[in-house]
Order: sequence, then structure tokens, then C-alpha cells
Amino acid sequence: MVQEAQRMRFFSQAVFYELTELVNERKKIGLPVIDLGIGSPDMPPPDILPHALRLALDQPGVFGYQRTEGTESFRTAIADFVKRRYQLTVDPIHEVLVTIGAQDALAHLALAFVNPGDVVLLPNPGYPIYEVSVRLADGVPYFMPLKEENNFLPNLDDIPREILQHAKMMVLNFPGNPTASLATLEYFADVVNFARTHNLIVVHDAAYIELVFDGLSAPSFLQVPGAAEVGIELHSFSKTFNFAGPRLAFALGNKQILNTLGKLKSQIDYGVFSAIQAAGTQALQQADTFIEQNRIHYQARRDALFEPLLAANWPVRKPAASMFVWLKTPQGVTAGDFSRRFLQESGIVTLPGTGFGSEGEGYVRIAMVQPPAILQQIAIEMIKRFPL
Ligand SMILES: Cc1ncc(COP(=O)(O)O)c(C=O)c1O
Repeated sequence: MVQEAQRMRFFSQAVFYELTELVNERKKIGLPVIDLGIGSPDMPPPDILPHALRLALDQPGVFGYQRTEGTESFRTAIADFVKRRYQLTVDPIHEVLVTIGAQDALAHLALAFVNPGDVVLLPNPGYPIYEVSVRLADGVPYFMPLKEENNFLPNLDDIPREILQHAKMMVLNFPGNPTASLATLEYFADVVNFARTHNLIVVHDAAYIELVFDGLSAPSFLQVPGAAEVGIELHSFSKTFNFAGPRLAFALGNKQILNTLGKLKSQIDYGVFSAIQAAGTQALQQADTFIEQNRIHYQARRDALFEPLLAANWPVRKPAASMFVWLKTPQGVTAGDFSRRFLQESGIVTLPGTGFGSEGEGYVRIAMVQPPAILQQIAIEMIKRFPL
């Protein structure tokens, strides 16, 4: 009998498993399913990405192993891009590290910095790898509750002193998944002060930084003077350029943190396929218009989804960012019940908020991965199934 290592228990997600079973049952008997569960972009990347990828495939040496940290030309393009879009000055050689998706960095940071028993401050609800990576490193997660009345920002003053004495790292994520919340530069400035006072490494996951609507923009954590003394920021091609499968992302900021993360990563794997880095270089140089159009598409999706909900007086607030809607379930309906019933009765997959942490009870996450007309129909269906 094959026995898993005990650490494999960190990966069991009972709610998601149950939903997958229900989806499979429906599909087996030929019933339709619309999946608004996983946040995998359904829209294509900018044309320049597949085009540059095809050209790069014919270059000599393209199939060789790559250095972990990324090609110099890609890192230079990253430095130019973040200068143009967020007014950041970063040294492409020491302050940029290419990663195999943001997931790669998130999965390995705790292994590189957390000793057994060290506390890591994490958002609740939050993206699941944050907790898993801490547990794999024998660290201890401390969950900072994200409350709606606090605009889903962690309240730093609420973190107990005895926790802070053992805390090594803090993970933040704005625009947030699943809450779609935005942080201000003032908030980030407080985080930098807090991190200095308590000697914390800050990891800001900015995977959704370019998906912001209504003419707003999301600040970079590194715009705060001195932020690079305490932390790093993660950016991803997956959502910014609808380029999730090729696994392309980058980390910016503190040299020592990036150097140590790179050292660990170089033992675990090699660098991103050079053709993908070459294509990424072109996108960073040429695809600003695409980024604006992508925002417009998601904004239209959000508006289509919210029109029926607002008209029916659902107590909902339009999110200003991300590809997700974090929807409060009607009174008396748990997150799990909502998702289960909506799938069984309407064939629509949503994720129960509890899959993102205990604070997700009473919420479901809807990924806007269908065109506006379908999302509008889904909202109408929701109102019918769950009358207020
Ligand atoms: C908050 C957050 N961070 C990171 C990731 C992973 O991004 P990547 O595809 O770059 O690994 C996701 C993916 O959904 C995410 O939602």
C-alpha cells in the first residue's frame, strides 16, 4: 500500500473535491456546465505573444537550458516596463527575478526564508498557496482577517504583539483574490513602516495589478520610498496578458530576497523556456494598448453581471478590480450550499468562499471568464434561484 507523506494532507480541499465530483456527474449524463470557478482567462493574449513565440522557436539554441534568473534582454524589458507603468527604478540584474508564474515564487519563498516555528502573516480569505507554502516549510500561518467593513484590508493594529515577536514574513495581495479589493499607497506606506518596526519580509502579490476598472489604477507596493528595503512584489503575465499556460512572471524589489529565492529556485528547476521569455520581451515593449483593452473587456463583464443584481436590489458592491466578483450569499445560505445548489440546479460553477479561508464563509467567488451576455444571464438565473 502506497502511503503519502504526512505533508500531503495540506493539499486536501474537500469543498473543491465535492464540486468537481458534481461537475463530473453532470457531464457524464450530458448536462451542460458553465465554469466560473477557476480564474483561467478565456480571452486570447495580444497577437504579439504567439507571433513572437513562433519566431523565437526558429532561433539557434532556443531549446537549451535557461539560467534561473531570466535572460538579460527580458529583465531589461521588465525594468523598462515597470519604469513606464509604475515609475519604478529597478536594476534589471539584481532587482528583477524571472519566475515560472507567480506561483513558483509563492510556493518557494517560505522554503527560502521560514524556519520551523516562524510565523507568516497571511490574508484570510487568501489564495491557497500562501498557506500551503508556509506549512510545507514547517512555518506557522497567522491569518489576518479581511473584513468588508475594512475594505478587505488587513488591520495591522489587530495583530497581537506575541505573534509579531515570532513573525518573519507577511503576504499581501492587491487587487485581491478573492475579494477584488484595492489598497492605497498610504496603506502600503503603513505596511512598510510596520515591516521595519517588526523586522518583517513583505511579499506583495500583484498578479492582478493591471486589471483595474473605472479609470482607476492600482499602486505598486514598491512605489513607497524604502519598500525595496523590506520586500518584493510579484507580477504575472497570466492575467495581464491572458498568458497563463506558458508560466511567465517576475519578482521585483529587494536584492537579497531575490538572490536567495533565485538560489533556491536554481536547485529546483531551470529558467523559463527562452522562446517564452523572448515573446514576453516583445509584449512588455508593445502591448500597452492590449492592457487597456483587456480592462475594458473585464469592466463590461462586471457591468453585465451587476446590472440585474443591482436592479433586483441585491446588497452588492461593484468591484473596481480583478477578474473576480466576491459575492455575499443571501442570508441563511452558506457558501457551500450556494455553490452546490447553483451547480445542481443551474449547471453553473462558483467557488464557495470557504475554499479561501474561514473568513470566506458567507461569500462565493465568481470568475468573470464568460462574455458579458452570458454573465448577465447567469445573474438573472442567480436572482431566480436565490430570491432575497
Ligand atoms: C492572487 C494570485 N496570485 C498568484 C496566482 C498565480 O499566478 P501565475 O499564473 O503567475 O502563477 C494567481 C492565479 O490565479 C492568483 O490568483
